[in-house]
Amino acid sequence: MSGFFSHVPLEPPNSILGVALECKKDAFEGKIDLTIGAYRNEQGKPEVLACVRDAESMVYEARPDHEYLSQDGLADFNVATQRLMFGDDAQVLQQGRVFTIQGISGTGSLRLACDFISTHMPGAMCLYPSVTWPNHPTMLQSAHVPSATYRYLDASGTGIDFQGMLADIEAAPQGSVVLLHNCAHNPTGVDPNEEQWRQVLQVMQARRLLPFFDNAYQGFVSGCPHQDALAVRMFADAGMEMIVACSFAKNFGLYGERVGALHFVVGTPAEVITVASQLRALSRVLYSTCPAYGARIVASILGDPTSKAAWEAQCRAMAERLNGVRKALYDELVAMRVKGTWEHIIAQRGMFSYTGIAAPVVARLKDEYHIYMLANGRISLAGLNSGNVKRFATALADILGTNP
Ligand code: LMR
Repeated sequence: MSGFFSHVPLEPPNSILGVALECKKDAFEGKIDLTIGAYRNEQGKPEVLACVRDAESMVYEARPDHEYLSQDGLADFNVATQRLMFGDDAQVLQQGRVFTIQGISGTGSLRLACDFISTHMPGAMCLYPSVTWPNHPTMLQSAHVPSATYRYLDASGTGIDFQGMLADIEAAPQGSVVLLHNCAHNPTGVDPNEEQWRQVLQVMQARRLLPFFDNAYQGFVSGCPHQDALAVRMFADAGMEMIVACSFAKNFGLYGERVGALHFVVGTPAEVITVASQLRALSRVLYSTCPAYGARIVASILGDPTSKAAWEAQCRAMAERLNGVRKALYDELVAMRVKGTWEHIIAQRGMFSYTGIAAPVVARLKDEYHIYMLANGRISLAGLNSGNVKRFATALADILGTNP
């Protein structure tokens, strides 16, 4: 026993994955899982999209080999995901200014981008929203990218502090990177509107700041992936260079397959060649090449107009169910006169609601009612359905009390 590892401290469980696991282990039949951002259907079960099932059969029948993918990933996937992000007729694509490398879902794509920033933009500061997905700050830190926050939520804690956000972005040193959630902000569900995005764009152009979009929920806001690409497309059409990290975990329901894409929009086609070479070098030492299976499924769906239309309909159906339970939860809370105000729940968008429920209440929901949500008050609406929304609202009424 030489004690090489005796000094290693115990890391507490992850704030999202830890509580999701705790819920999984709870044997109580009526438990409610509002933890992880993973879609569940009306029966509370994970959903495999019908278009994905069909694509799986096609991939199986094509009997692909199991060679390594190229360092860039699956070529058809990269082309299809570029179009999905920027639009079929996007100028940036026609100008040959986009390089896409396949990524390991959202996290792997973001992390590769962070490594690129720290290596090739040394000293550049990355600003991220003061409330954000907890993996953002820790990832920036572990990639040694200096970072700071910009204001995001208003004093109520459930709406946007747009003037604060704009002022903080405006005050960033020139050449900084600004991390933005393209849509369905995680954890808050609070997004800038179109006019606000235009203002952010103007400030970033004037201050020469680099947008770094996290695009993990495209399709989950409006139900339409094209409409949900508004911010990225607006910035691209304005001629901005940018980095966009995409996950296909949510909108294709391919969580465990780790399917992602990292797009770099650069100044000239010549820069595509150099930036690509550096991204290949960085990914080589991290994981070498990406897994093929999920990329084959996405490429097969997006590459065929009929399958693509089927996917768009199935994606819309998921978004509509989330909007439905969002409204149902609000209606129950109002009908039961649960103490507090709940309008923000229906104003927020996407998979989550940032409820404003305080940590001690979150703890009681878990301990006394087998209802699991994040300590910061975030709920994944996917865990709600017509069979359990009343129970959740009733538990809140029990703990918070009701208005007279
Ligand atoms: C979430 O925020 O719940 C998801 O993005 C899953 C994750 O990895 O955190």
